[in-house]
Amino acid sequence: MTQSLTLDSISAHYGSTQVLENLSLAVGEGELVSLLGASGCGKTTTLRLVAGFLQPTSGTITLGGRDLTRLPPHQRDIGLVFQNYALFPHLSVADNVGFGLKQRGVSGDAKAKRVTEMLERVGLAHLADRLPGALSGGQKQRVALARALVIKPPLLMFDEPLSNLDAKLRVDMRVEIRQLQRANGTTSVYVTHDQEEAFSISDRVAIMHAGRIMQLDTPERLYQRPANAFVARFVGFENLIPMAVVERDGAKITAEMAGGVRLTLPLEQFGAIPDSFILACRADGLQVTDNATMEGIPATLGLRTYLGRAYQYQAETPAGALIANGPLTRVLESGAAAKLVPVPEQCTILAPE
Ligand SMILES: Nc1ncnc2c1ncn2[C@@H]1O[C@H](COP(=O)(O)OP(=O)(O)OP(=O)(O)O)[C@@H](O)[C@H]1O
Ligand SMILES: [Mg+2]
Repeated sequence: MTQSLTLDSISAHYGSTQVLENLSLAVGEGELVSLLGASGCGKTTTLRLVAGFLQPTSGTITLGGRDLTRLPPHQRDIGLVFQNYALFPHLSVADNVGFGLKQRGVSGDAKAKRVTEMLERVGLAHLADRLPGALSGGQKQRVALARALVIKPPLLMFDEPLSNLDAKLRVDMRVEIRQLQRANGTTSVYVTHDQEEAFSISDRVAIMHAGRIMQLDTPERLYQRPANAFVARFVGFENLIPMAVVERDGAKITAEMAGGVRLTLPLEQFGAIPDSFILACRADGLQVTDNATMEGIPATLGLRTYLGRAYQYQAETPAGALIANGPLTRVLESGAAAKLVPVPEQCTILAPE
């Protein structure tokens, strides 16, 4: 039985420091939403509030329409998976997994059957009698996952569950977590500071900064259409160029950046463009050419690096330092004059900061 989770205008403090400010978040039934952000932005705090280990100073938390805000943790019935596994060292794998069932009054054959089923699903049936001390990191994390899933909680929460594993295992495990979560249809909140992990595992991702959600959206939308400059930088738009419209002409506009450089931009790609805006381009979306007749940002090229699929150039322009990519077929030297040409399909427009 899966349920939707809502956080409505949650604020939280540790002592006199405000950590979350009016945070609202809705996670649909069966949906996996990740909280992604730098260390200290409030990800764990958000989970602690939902789990009931911390009380908000204002706001409400509901699960399946039921108000959880003032309930003690054990009445919330939430499955938790942490970075440090938190397994009982003196209990076997099977007893670790069965622990929550026992607490919920499931015992005997019924318990044994559910534990065995769950251990099979996470590929650990053959290790049922082992103690946690004799398991690898990946195996421990599977036990922790099995222990959280076996109680069939209406909500699962993960706090950096894979950060103690090596890179290869992290990728394997995140696929397994996603498959189990999908198969069970369990509403989930997943905390990580790894962008690739968040994007690959989630239906939607909340990008957090200083206790606030900067954007909550699908990975595709975040990557292609960040809503603000913070998110744009976060998802790798290296070039954020403030511009002002100087002329509107049907399907295109002319806009000017610092140093008086003008560009023509098609409205078709960007929809409405406000009078003052930021043109955001990844290095891929700003192509280097030595064809002086092209319309583009005049630049003096600096350091060139080889990326395999392209060359990347540091470039000095009247609008400041920019980063742009050029084709492998044309190697330009440091000090060369060039134009940086925005590729509209790969750029996006943001409101000024
Ligand atoms: N028990 C506490 N007492 C006081 N301040 C705390 C406490 N726990 C966390 N904080 C502060 O609250 C802020 C948010 O912490 P939180 O643990 O939610 O961050 P996080 O996003 O999970 O970071 P990380 O990625 O490092 O785990 C941080 O500035 C942190 O220093
Ligand atoms: Mg944390």
